[in-house]
Amino acid sequence: MDYLSRRKFFNLTALGFMSLGIGHFAPSAFAGTHVLKVYKSPSCGCCSAWVAHMRSAGFRVVATDITDLRPIKKKFGVVPELRSCHTAVIDGYVIEGHVPAREVMRLLTDRPKAIGLAVPGMPIGSPGMEQGGRRDPFQVILFSTTHRSVFAEYPSQQI
Ligand code: CU
Ligand code: CU
Repeated sequence: MDYLSRRKFFNLTALGFMSLGIGHFAPSAFAGTHVLKVYKSPSCGCCSAWVAHMRSAGFRVVATDITDLRPIKKKFGVVPELRSCHTAVIDGYVIEGHVPAREVMRLLTDRPKAIGLAVPGMPIGSPGMEQGGRRDPFQVILFSTTHRSVFAEYPSQQI
């Protein structure tokens, strides 16, 4: 990890820990032990941009290109209405779509009982879907086979 991405990573984790009220965890726990396995289509530009977002937040990423992702999504319990482009797994959780890195960090710290997180569709302005300064509102959904809840809410924004 270079200095800049390390800085970014510490800043992000510091934010995450502050909001949770726990500061004694080593931030390197994420970068060192958790490998994010990403399944994506070879032609998907926004998938690669999301991978870059996760890497710059400190995650170790192993990306695999797959032409038909439907069997993967089905296997990991991502139902059609939660689906996006790429599907990732980390430490027993499924991450579907353009989920911000800080939410994945919070998931790994909180460890709620769930399959994982999803940002359905491909909202403009979510990580990897940047388009100028525009951000459409989107939600990060915590999902299991029987329950869904809003894990984080990102309002619309114009920078
Ligand atoms: Cu995408
Ligand atoms: Cu993608």
